[in-house]
Amino acid sequence: MNEKNLQHTHQFQIDSIDPLGQGVCKNSDKITFIDKVLPDESGTAVTWKENSKVRFARMTSLESEKVSPLRIKPECSHYQDCFNCSYQHTSYDSELKFKKEAFLRMLRALQYQSTIDLIEAPERFYYRNRIQLHYDLHQMKLGFITPQTQSITEVPHCLLVRAELKQKLEELYSHQSWVQLISNQQPKTGHIELYYLDQNIQLNVNQPYAFGGFTQVNEVMNQRLKSYLLNFLEKFSPKTILDLFGGSGNLTNHYSKAKVTVVDGFQSTQAQLKDWQTFQKVDLYSKNECKNWLLATPKQDLLIVDPPRTGIKHLAEILEKTQARHFCYVSCNPSTMIRDVKELENYRCTHAALVDLFPATHHFESVTVFERIG
Ligand SMILES: C[S@@+](CC[C@H](N)C(=O)[O-])C[C@H]1O[C@@H](n2cnc3c(N)ncnc32)[C@H](O)[C@@H]1O
Repeated sequence: MNEKNLQHTHQFQIDSIDPLGQGVCKNSDKITFIDKVLPDESGTAVTWKENSKVRFARMTSLESEKVSPLRIKPECSHYQDCFNCSYQHTSYDSELKFKKEAFLRMLRALQYQSTIDLIEAPERFYYRNRIQLHYDLHQMKLGFITPQTQSITEVPHCLLVRAELKQKLEELYSHQSWVQLISNQQPKTGHIELYYLDQNIQLNVNQPYAFGGFTQVNEVMNQRLKSYLLNFLEKFSPKTILDLFGGSGNLTNHYSKAKVTVVDGFQSTQAQLKDWQTFQKVDLYSKNECKNWLLATPKQDLLIVDPPRTGIKHLAEILEKTQARHFCYVSCNPSTMIRDVKELENYRCTHAALVDLFPATHHFESVTVFERIG
């Protein structure tokens, strides 16, 4: 697709909000996506990217009589320039409504006709136990990448980080002290992760995401996610469970009535498996490794899958071999979840939940439960 970077200005009127939290404007020569706007708002936007079919633009002014009654003043001082949050210009209730509508539209691909359970967060801010910031020594900047411009937005007062990380974050920015963390051997551009893990603050430079062992980013909501899953475990009473992309066994360490096999590509140094959990190290994205592992994998009553944003490969083969009666797909990217399950012939979706692990941003966790048919 031939993409152009243009800076021309045009009028817009917003029809709806898409799953990425962007306003969708259809009353133009091509569909236009604009962030930080609300339905029925109109005004002027400047294009930052377009191709033959769609345009991406940024609102520059709103018509005063068309400002949505849902609009509020964002709490974060970085909100206007920062791409990370998408919904601070409206209340948490309307954020949840937009997320729910977007998820319901996605679920139509599965012929799912029922309602969705909504598990909301008690706090909109101060929840992240981990924050990954990009640095660029040429620009002398540290922060989040803004895709519109590929530039870095500095976020010393980000409201998403947990109270324990707030001071450390501000210290990084104070007199650009983060620069001292980058040795001569490190590249001129890279990332720094602040990670509150086991009551310690780690500062990781150019290490893989969640270095030290994956934990869900929002601990309070992680507990609510586990409670929600527990309802199904109690209901289905499986005797055997495969916890795929299971990390340290987080999603099954509170259910002692089954023999659980936790499978992950990386063995966490934090892993504290319970007596009923055993760990298998398998690269679930490798066709060969997955095939060999499946050969030695017996039938299972239930599968839990919780892959990274890219989703799961070989799901049909895994279900075929394990013959699981039920499976629960926990996903931080519902669009890849839909892609992975929509062609499955022997399973139907019976429950869906939106678990708001990432308030103020457009992201959310989904839990979908499937039952074997036939
Ligand atoms: C979203 S996390 C879920 C972890 C866990 N279920 C939890 O609740 O903490 C995704 C997991 O996928 C694992 N992973 C990433 N790539 C993998 C691969 N190629 N094969 C197996 N596991 C992988 C990561 O190590 C991480 O533990």
